[in-house]
Amino acid sequence: MFETLSAAPPDKILNLSILYKNDARPTKMDLGVGVYKNSQGATVIMRAVREAEKRLYESQTTKTYVGMAGDEGFNKAMLQLVFGKKADLSRMFACQTAGGSGALRTIADLLAKARPDATIWLSDPTWANHVPILKAAGFKTATYPYFDPASGTVKADAMLEGLKQAKAGDITLLHGCCHNPTGANLTIQQWAPVVDLLVERDLFPFVDLAYQGFGDGLEEDAAAVRLLASKVPEMAVATSCSKNFSVYRDRVGAVILMGKDAEGAKIAGSQALATTRVLYSMPPDHAAAAVRIILEDDALCADWKSELEAMRLRMLNLRKGFAEALRRQSNSSRFDFIADHRGMFSRLGLTEAQVDRLRDEFGIYMVGDSRFNVAGLKEDRLDDLAKAVVAIL
Ligand code: LMR
Repeated sequence: MFETLSAAPPDKILNLSILYKNDARPTKMDLGVGVYKNSQGATVIMRAVREAEKRLYESQTTKTYVGMAGDEGFNKAMLQLVFGKKADLSRMFACQTAGGSGALRTIADLLAKARPDATIWLSDPTWANHVPILKAAGFKTATYPYFDPASGTVKADAMLEGLKQAKAGDITLLHGCCHNPTGANLTIQQWAPVVDLLVERDLFPFVDLAYQGFGDGLEEDAAAVRLLASKVPEMAVATSCSKNFSVYRDRVGAVILMGKDAEGAKIAGSQALATTRVLYSMPPDHAAAAVRIILEDDALCADWKSELEAMRLRMLNLRKGFAEALRRQSNSSRFDFIADHRGMFSRLGLTEAQVDRLRDEFGIYMVGDSRFNVAGLKEDRLDDLAKAVVAIL
């Protein structure tokens, strides 16, 4: 049986952690996988998560199944986190998933049941795992222009023109905030014509919202998704708690579906659950329960928000500091865009060969497209890194 297979290529992002671990150089830097790290390089358990886990440990009396949709308290809390406490949730459905990727695959399979002939339009570039997930669900994919490497900004006009190539009924995958891998985002003013175009041309929005709270703030990062909800008839959102609750390995995220009406949401939701039933039956519980405990408790929630905000502000400072270090070392403003970007990533604009040199000569690990994880930077090593970048240019 297995002789018919050849080895799968290593994952372009996750394999970096293995290479980094095996590097003995004490000066090495891990700017690869999108995991938040503090200034000591540690991915700590957030205070509120720790406390919620303690409460969970003390109060949990059984490990029996929770149910197909997971923790309903969690699902409601996630809807409120994304759409706001006062939002009308009557035509919304949510179910807990195994991480943001579980949500993406569930939505992709659901949409394949609804409209198998649609093309899914993705930003150029997009997260490395989007295309494989969508192709595994059987979709054709195409790209719309998005990032202008020369200016480090979004090509908003070209994006609109590109989306006009889509056929009515096609699907557009949009990064709700903190674009991965570029860090360049539409302003809310730039979102408005995109949303109008989707409505006008009957293009279905499929939003990936994996970094809420890592860009401009929890509310601000949900602005685009809320604008969409106010204008489009239907949409799907894949959201994740991996980053903003730092619960990566526990795998928790959510599928959110907005129907034309309550009945539409209910039917789509039932199909989403039929989809997860054949994918993995039911989602893991632990971190979802912890997240629910946090979001339902005012004091814990306030503490979580303040720790998340400190993480966000630290990333902003690192962006500023790194852009300044690069300005100093390169005597140019070429990298100033890093300070303007938001979220966990930006791209340095290096070739793959230059990225290889950074790894081989300096022990600096980043994705081959020169995407680096801002939270992997260290305050006291910004000039070392900038010098290395200048050396390989
Ligand atoms: C990333 O983009 O680095 C993260 O989302 C981790 C992953 O699964 O690729």
